Amino acid sequence: MSGNLPSRLGVLVSGNGTNLQAIIDRIEAGDISAEIACVVSDKSDAFALTRAARHGIPAVVHENIGFPERRAYDAATVEILRSHKVDLIILAGFMKILTDVMVSAFPNAIMNIHPALLPSFRGLHAQQQAIDYGVRYSGCTVHFVDCGTDTGPIILQSVVPVEQDDTEATLSARIQMAEHQTFAAAIKLVVEGKIRVIGRKVRISA
Ligand code: GRF
Repeated sequence: MSGNLPSRLGVLVSGNGTNLQAIIDRIEAGDISAEIACVVSDKSDAFALTRAARHGIPAVVHENIGFPERRAYDAATVEILRSHKVDLIILAGFMKILTDVMVSAFPNAIMNIHPALLPSFRGLHAQQQAIDYGVRYSGCTVHFVDCGTDTGPIILQSVVPVEQDDTEATLSARIQMAEHQTFAAAIKLVVEGKIRVIGRKVRISA
């Protein structure tokens, strides 16, 4: 990413929003030079909306109701993001796979956090998948979003141990602590222009 550095984040959420909170905290601490221009939730009862309100961040409930198909819903999402002049999109627990409509509107400008070390354990219940497979280490991955499911270029990863008696809940909690650090660190790199995407590889400059 070169030229204009992104500074207006659009954060898409569906649930609790602990990653959103971590990003808000790092911005408010002056550690990430960006502003959250809007939070968009596909769930009206997402606690992430309360977090946005507490920090005076504009929030939009955008449910997938009445749209003829997923691409139409995504086209409407693009409109919302553009109306808030968003230039970097953060998927922070947004539980929908994006269609080409969103991906092509913001090429290499959509970031996702996945609770596993990709390319292992893509898709839903990644933590349970890791437990079931018997890996000793899992973690989280921040990546740019392409049209696949958790397949885009990898920006940062953090390793988290899997304990023998872990449940999906205990492993998720441990991974989430790493997520909050890793996502913020990756966003900081992107807004500071330290990331270049070459094919499916991401180069980080000092
Ligand atoms: C995170 O665990 C993330 O890995 C996954 O969704 C979860 C969102 O959690 N994509 P939160 O809403 O940020 O607390």
